[in-house]
Amino acid sequence: MAGKKKIKPDQLRSQRWYKGVSLSAFTHRSRSKQMGYGPEEFHDKPAIAIINTWSDINQCHSHFKVRVEEVKRGIWQGGGFPIELPAMSLSEPFVKPSTMLYRNMLAMEAEELLRSHPIDGVVLMGGCDKTTPALLMGAASMDIPAIFVPAGPMLRGNYRNQFLGSGTDSWRFWDELRAGTIDEEEWYEAESGIARSPGHCMTMGTASTMTSAAEALGMTLPGAASIPAADSNHARMASATGRRIVDMVWEDYRPSDIIKRENLENAITTVMALGGSTNAAIHLLAIGHRLDLGVGLEMFDTLSRKTPVLADIQPSGRFLMEDFYYSGGLRALLNRIRDLLHTEASTANGKTLGENIESAEVYNDDVIRTRDNPMSDEGGLVVLKGNICPDGAVIKHTAADPKFYNHTGPAVVFESHPDLLARIDDPDLDVTADSVIVMKNAGPVGGPGMPEWGMLPIPKKLLKAGVRDMVRISDARMSGTSYGTCVLHVAPESFVGGNLALIETGDMITLDIFGRTLNMEVSDEELAKRRDAWTPPKPHYPRGYGWMYAQHIQQADKGCDFDYLQSTDPIAEPELHH
Ligand code: FES
Repeated sequence: MAGKKKIKPDQLRSQRWYKGVSLSAFTHRSRSKQMGYGPEEFHDKPAIAIINTWSDINQCHSHFKVRVEEVKRGIWQGGGFPIELPAMSLSEPFVKPSTMLYRNMLAMEAEELLRSHPIDGVVLMGGCDKTTPALLMGAASMDIPAIFVPAGPMLRGNYRNQFLGSGTDSWRFWDELRAGTIDEEEWYEAESGIARSPGHCMTMGTASTMTSAAEALGMTLPGAASIPAADSNHARMASATGRRIVDMVWEDYRPSDIIKRENLENAITTVMALGGSTNAAIHLLAIGHRLDLGVGLEMFDTLSRKTPVLADIQPSGRFLMEDFYYSGGLRALLNRIRDLLHTEASTANGKTLGENIESAEVYNDDVIRTRDNPMSDEGGLVVLKGNICPDGAVIKHTAADPKFYNHTGPAVVFESHPDLLARIDDPDLDVTADSVIVMKNAGPVGGPGMPEWGMLPIPKKLLKAGVRDMVRISDARMSGTSYGTCVLHVAPESFVGGNLALIETGDMITLDIFGRTLNMEVSDEELAKRRDAWTPPKPHYPRGYGWMYAQHIQQADKGCDFDYLQSTDPIAEPELHH
């Protein structure tokens, strides 16, 4: 429980390593002294890990090299002993084939870093897409006191006096370049202005969605997720987080004390009100399963129907995270929907969510809309079921053209992403604006790693004719900064024999967003015949992490965690020899 000191110094987990007359304690003390630390540092003080996902190739965390010193400052001030532990940084644009292939690896790394070292509590530093869920998953499973420092969004992009949004405007410029409406000079000029400060993507992509969800889960200090990385308030939030974690250790205040089902519902409601990324439907399920909260994909549809989208932020809206911060940020938005939240939910600072958002005001009703002028009456995520996706699929309908909300059209099928890239711009491709583009083998196993290929490109000949949206279906994910009528996360995926694998070009497909269905007009008998003729594709990996991943990854409707990680079975503390 928060607020009460429950742990005495000799009960600190770290003191097993440091105290007593034993060869192992001698070794730990002498090796700490080798680094210049003395008993005044490592005796009877909470040892606080800082899991830092900085690296020379993670642009979104480039300020973490400095920010970690501010976290340490706070830990010293609070009376703790900071221990920085670097972890893989999962830079979204650089890691191939997909950071999602490695999210669980970072989650395991975080958990095992904490288990194997003399650590009493942890500050988690992340923000670039998969780092937030990975660190929260690892911390939830280890279940020692933990708090999250969100990287903060980068400043608005700037190009020829226009604001540019991460991802969203890249796709738009790419479509315009392919359609021939901008030239290469403009294309190169835009790339110098679209990402101009440290911090994660500043649209409502997966990063802003998941850092906001982390705050709504109760795992950050209040207001932390909205502060731009370049703002000096971000540095002060980092040191305040360092001070707070030390108290959390004395209070023995753990993730399992904070994150209850109510917190998870708050996080989902928050994602909906923000018009957040569809990726949240995977990551929040994974976190919920780690804590055995009895969660399921249907929660997203239920809460989506009740929650208006109030954040007018790209890609569903007009503004960017910097505008959101100046307009009051997440606390202000949450205060506007407080009747939809469990305000009694616990948070890291020991207060309830309701107390933390009490005084938060909105300063700009254009960016954070009023309840009677929402972006949309419902949240931005619909869960579909049908014979294409018996275990579910999702669509961000707020980023889709409403004319496709109820649409029937013939399938144009691509067997894989390479097949799509090879044929999509073929002038002879038999496709019209009413066709439904289907891509197979891009799911958790098939991708591998469920890459963000789900915003399938519009065929060039249709782009040139002015078409900018079509119905598209795959078992891939989509970047939170993407848009269009893209059905995603089809489960089970085609690579493992889901019905998506059985669709053929010409099959009539009906998407009914109002009715929450996605079906192909193919009889059960015909599907059975096609299944008999279907042969599984060759596995991607003969050995290594990829092989292990393919054996244990779960489907999107379960959160894509490894089956053996989704349990709360206790693991014994490591033996200290001698
Ligand atoms: Fe890091 Fe978008 S590239 S959040």
